[in-house]
Amino acid sequence: MNRITVSAPGKLMLLGEHAVVYNRPCIVTAVGQRMFVTVERTKDGLFELNAPDVDVKKYKKPMQELGQGEIAKGARFVEIAVKNFKDKYYFTGGLKIKTKSQFSSQFGFGSSSASTVCVIKGLSILFGKKLSDQQIFNLAYKTILNIQGKGSGFDVAAAVFGGTLYFWTGGKFIKPLNIKELPLVVGYSGVKADTVTLINEVKERANKYPQVIDGIYDQIHALVEEGRRSVLKGDWESLGELMSFNQGYLVSLGVSTKKLADMIYAAKENGAYGAKLSGAGGGDCIVALVSPSKKPAVVKAINKVGKVINVKGNVEGVRVEG
Ligand code: MEV
Repeated sequence: MNRITVSAPGKLMLLGEHAVVYNRPCIVTAVGQRMFVTVERTKDGLFELNAPDVDVKKYKKPMQELGQGEIAKGARFVEIAVKNFKDKYYFTGGLKIKTKSQFSSQFGFGSSSASTVCVIKGLSILFGKKLSDQQIFNLAYKTILNIQGKGSGFDVAAAVFGGTLYFWTGGKFIKPLNIKELPLVVGYSGVKADTVTLINEVKERANKYPQVIDGIYDQIHALVEEGRRSVLKGDWESLGELMSFNQGYLVSLGVSTKKLADMIYAAKENGAYGAKLSGAGGGDCIVALVSPSKKPAVVKAINKVGKVINVKGNVEGVRVEG
């Protein structure tokens, strides 16, 4: 086999962001807009990347120079994923890689982790290495840490395993929560957030008020445990309430914005069970839990202040497309 196409889903955090960076759990769901990556073996000894969604066109360098010199911003995750795979599993020849996303890299759906996971899964099949999902997670998470230095790995887990997961920092526990559906409405703020900057801002607050912030993380941990039970029971009313609690703590951590709050109020005032920002904060998306009967009103209200993204939760993880 010389060529393979693999896809992986984006993600949304349901409960537990920020606290999950500091040895605590979260709940994440994989969303039905996917990243597609085609990996092709070549004989020219070159690494070539085309990633039009992030303005990378015909980016080329010799395979032995992976990870060295200037790395285009949009090429970092794919290039380092290839380097990490090659260092561990050794192969010869060149590679031509193309990425295509169904979702904008602005949404905070985790395009970097989804493409990293696709590359590692694709290479493992092309080179006949039978990697378990856990091994794919480990190598993809290492790649994210090589580049960002920070992050819990929850986005990588969502891309690999899919579904809805109870996830603990670094993948210490990754437990699928087996459910059939998740009645989500997602609203986009129109603002791109930078995760590492927000993690650092929260860290600064934690350095100033260590006990206060640690107490908030403990409360978030407690509501994640409650939320896990609500998800398993399909008790969306309680899960919604817990999401709204969680939003309160995220406001306390200083990562909410007026735009996010406006969308959250729009959802709640129109009958959502609950709503919160999803991810690092500072922008990106909100997630609301909404019954089918209230959905039209909630969608309309969110669209007045932001933009609803039509997306399903709880979808399949990384898979071969052809
Ligand atoms: C960002 O989407 C969520 C954070 O918890 C960071 C992480 O878990 O990697 C802020």
